[in-house]
Amino acid sequence: MTDELSECIQKIDLKDSKSDDESTSSSSSSSGGELANEFEIEDVEALLKEGKVKNIVMVVGAGISTSAGIPDFRTPGTGLYSNLERYNLPYPEAVFDIKYFKKRPQAFYTLSKELLPGLYAPTITHHFIAQLGKLGILKRIYSQNIDGLERLAGLEEEKLVEAHGSFASSRCTRCKKVYPNSEVHPMLRAGTVMECTSCEDRNDRAYVKPDIVFFGEGLPDRFHDLLNDDLEECDLMIVMGTSLYVYPVGGIPDGVGNDCPRILINRELVGSFKEDRRRTADAFYCGNADDGALRLAKALGVEEEVKESYKNLKASIDKKREEINNN
Ligand code: APR
Repeated sequence: MTDELSECIQKIDLKDSKSDDESTSSSSSSSGGELANEFEIEDVEALLKEGKVKNIVMVVGAGISTSAGIPDFRTPGTGLYSNLERYNLPYPEAVFDIKYFKKRPQAFYTLSKELLPGLYAPTITHHFIAQLGKLGILKRIYSQNIDGLERLAGLEEEKLVEAHGSFASSRCTRCKKVYPNSEVHPMLRAGTVMECTSCEDRNDRAYVKPDIVFFGEGLPDRFHDLLNDDLEECDLMIVMGTSLYVYPVGGIPDGVGNDCPRILINRELVGSFKEDRRRTADAFYCGNADDGALRLAKALGVEEEVKESYKNLKASIDKKREEINNN
């Protein structure tokens, strides 16, 4: 067992014993980091191998992009929220809070230099997701990420809901005037706050913000338009690389029936995978998203395709990055 995996299991045991202390009545007899049922990743692999799965719904977060070099938010020490001291924020999430942005946009603009999609290569997990689309068994993926790597890996738009928006477009936070990326992205890359030119005659300034969903803003209509039907048709829920900390996305996995198979592929046990003892088919793969993705890709007979598309795209993006650095 790799160190990481044993650390992961220990973390769960610790968490699980902590939550048992707190819980008044735990209905399950299981202790430590096990789930209440005996469902394992091997059972999910069997479902995939037997072609029994036609409508996978996925929920993913920053943990599927960490192997691309993009930090997640809450992993202690390396997560984004552990490294924002220099912005003197009242609390870490303020950098993505709409009220704070309207008064102090600089923190977000400075951070954007690191967040703006550009020269990160999609991970093995992103290519696995694109393969599920090609196989016709992906109903939808609800991504919390703003890095655009699902699209870059070749996933068709129709299958993707970017629940927390993206950098694909930008507008004034007051008059909603849309600004072209050709004007906005250079400002974001430079960390220079962009003011709205239509609002400048007002007595207070208004700033241009990419269409990322900030705390205090609503999610895209597409999220609400598609979710209920997707959950109705879901025959396998795959959750990867997320703390399930932020709602409403964090609640999506709870929206399927108790008998709908669910698998969490994550470095830690999170959300109702930790608590909901009624579920009969919850699996937990404790480890890296890319390793879990390759397990499922192998069960579907597309492991080589995933590895090949990952290698080829990464090589071309690395080459592009080198050319830019050399110019
Ligand atoms: N493989 C598997 N799991 C991983 C990996 C990896 N390589 N790297 C990190 N993780 C796990 C972490 O252990 C954690 O449980 O992924 C999860 C990432 O959780 P967060 O950092 O909270 O990221 P996320 O769930 O995407 O955050 C949700 O919070 O601040 C908001 O809008 C922001 O969309 C974001 C939302």
